Amino acid sequence: MTGRITGTGSWVPEQVLDNEALSNIVDTSNQWIRERTGVERRHIAEQETTAEMAAKAGKRALEQAKVDPAKVELILVATISGNEILPCTACRVQEMLGAVQATCFDLNSACTGFLFALNTAQAYLKSGIYRNALVIGAESLSNLINWKDRGTCILFGDGAGAAFLEAEESGRYAQITHSDGEKGKALTCSSRNQKQYAEHPDAPETYMEMDGREVFKFAVSSVPQVIQELLEKEKIPKEEIRFYILHQANIRIIQSVSKRLGEAEEKFPVNIQEYGNTSGASIPILLDELNRKGCLQPGDKLVLAAFGAGLSYGASLLEWK
Ligand code: UT7
Repeated sequence: MTGRITGTGSWVPEQVLDNEALSNIVDTSNQWIRERTGVERRHIAEQETTAEMAAKAGKRALEQAKVDPAKVELILVATISGNEILPCTACRVQEMLGAVQATCFDLNSACTGFLFALNTAQAYLKSGIYRNALVIGAESLSNLINWKDRGTCILFGDGAGAAFLEAEESGRYAQITHSDGEKGKALTCSSRNQKQYAEHPDAPETYMEMDGREVFKFAVSSVPQVIQELLEKEKIPKEEIRFYILHQANIRIIQSVSKRLGEAEEKFPVNIQEYGNTSGASIPILLDELNRKGCLQPGDKLVLAAFGAGLSYGASLLEWK
């Protein structure tokens, strides 16, 4: 059994913060951000919660798949920015969608989260435990960012993307993933839920902290490496790949991966200019845009690849139907 994607959806907040406006609140410039990252604007969830965005993206995926929410068996939400610790974001989504039968849980693997959630859903479908799954990546990173730190705040944005999978006998899905906890310090965000029992510290506000250069170096070597590993394992020549749908972290990382693989930039669709880096939401938002624009044809082989906090990275191969 393989999970076939029968519907995709996405949702981003209306509120837009462009580079010019951002340069009024932190010492940066439109030119620097565009040239060094490719980001032109990002959407900010001022009113919406992560769960609300996730549910809206999920609803669109179910509508496209023409599936009654009450028939959904599994909901996975990849997120690092749920607004509550309990209940999980996936249970909030269940409630909002009326997906009464679904088993629901969240998965935290930052920017590789959607890929890891997709792999998890595929494993459940392959084993026959569930027959369908709604996989969502949703983030309100604007809540975790230090808006005084120009090394991070210029990069990130908010939004959600979703894919609905249905099990079928035929179909193709393959994945390779890696985690490297020794490099974890390069991208961190301490919990705001600090020790309360033995000590009563005035817990400082904590924010996402990143050694951008380290993460950059990691990405430009690990992503092409894991894609090559996947293609070799699956015995697929790179010429057969229609699109490489990469985590939208930085346009220069995407260009470097294309160069290192020796593949044309046209095979690497981008939307980072509009949304910035939306972590676990970036791949499903891009997938949904390509799908809705009619860019994906039956039989197309797609590689999805991501990297992020952990550090972790991975690539998946799927055949569009
Ligand atoms: O989703 C996964 C997580 N994250 C990533 O994928 C991030 C990967 N890393 C990156 O995308 C890049 O490292 C950044 C965009 C974060 C930073 O770009 P960079 O080209 O690596 O900049 P840098 O940190 O090496 O800084 C270069 C210069 C420095 O000035 P000097 O020392 O050369 O005079 C910085 O102070 O640019 C300066 N700078 C800025 N200037 C204007 C750093 N940030 C900014 C800024 N605006 N926002």
